Amino acid sequence: MKAIEVKKGIYWVGAVDWSVRNFHGYTTNRGATYNAYLIIDEKITLIDTVKAPFAGELLARIRSVVDPEKIDYVVSNHVEMDHSGALPVIMKACPNAKVVTSAPSGIKGLTAHYGEYDYMPVKGGDTLSLGERSLAFVTTPMVHWPDNMVTYCPEEKILFSNDAFGQHYASNGRFDDQEPLDVVLQEAKKYYANIVMPYSKQAGGAVTACGGLDFEMICPSHGVIWRGHIKEILEAYGKWTSGATEEKALVVFDSMWHSTEQMALAVLEGFTQKGICAKLFDLKCCHNSDILTDVLDCTYIAVGSPTLNNQMLPTVASFLCYLKGLSPKNRKAFAFGSYGWGGQSIGLVEDELKACGFDICLDKIRIQYVPKEEQLLEITEKVKNL
Ligand code: FEO
Repeated sequence: MKAIEVKKGIYWVGAVDWSVRNFHGYTTNRGATYNAYLIIDEKITLIDTVKAPFAGELLARIRSVVDPEKIDYVVSNHVEMDHSGALPVIMKACPNAKVVTSAPSGIKGLTAHYGEYDYMPVKGGDTLSLGERSLAFVTTPMVHWPDNMVTYCPEEKILFSNDAFGQHYASNGRFDDQEPLDVVLQEAKKYYANIVMPYSKQAGGAVTACGGLDFEMICPSHGVIWRGHIKEILEAYGKWTSGATEEKALVVFDSMWHSTEQMALAVLEGFTQKGICAKLFDLKCCHNSDILTDVLDCTYIAVGSPTLNNQMLPTVASFLCYLKGLSPKNRKAFAFGSYGWGGQSIGLVEDELKACGFDICLDKIRIQYVPKEEQLLEITEKVKNL
């Protein structure tokens, strides 16, 4: 396995995980990559490692350029194991390397995971000379762990951005201009929605902190390297970090005997007649992480569940739990559902939507047993008039 030179003397030495389809609960239908970068200078530097099972692939790519023993610095931008998992293997192969990481959080996290190494703590604004090049460190705490930082090489105008600007996307093209832009941007959106969204304020601060930098290349730790479409990904991050929404509605439901499903279709029809983009997600076949990609920029969220054993359906509970954790702001929401006798689920769904901090824009809609045609028309009319 060979390294890929991304700029003279700078190599991608990461790993492509073609097979992964679930990344701690987030569906990765297009696989993933764990990117690491090798800088050949007077001081040879590795930026980040890879997930543990791919340590051999990382070492092989490094060896295609240089003997790992010659590595002077291993920069760890982020402790999470998809980037640090290969650190023990790498440190065995690079016994002379110092581990450059943020203080105190990076050192604390790496020590807890892997023990003691020759750590070199850095803080935001610190620089490190490699010879012809230098590295500047920008700490980006809580984007999305306390230890996160990004590393900038001013002589090359490259930002090593770790998770920021990343996408779970396996490919043999290493650059944005070698892959379909719409697909890569969609994966970047899914990544942002499922990983970064709760920390949008901090992410906005990080984007602003990097805003004064001059980029020719953004090298994230997942997916393709940005060089041809830097403007597009920065614009997208500007929108996502701002929390801006579009006139778009999501109708999310599960159903037992199609009554709540009929109500969901009537809600969808109301949004359609209102003239706004609306999407229907049946939780029996749609994954939470895909729905959250659309939550990122929607205005309305309608959630429906029948009552089962005095509760909402577990699929709906799972969606609402995941939604609340990712903490989207400024949404309008309402609950609906059919029931046989107790009918508690609809109130419980509404309570969860309130707990998300959403504005309840329509009283909960409850229908006993099977909805009649006129009841469905009434739902459509109510939603149309929102
Ligand atoms: Fe790609 Fe937060 O790890």
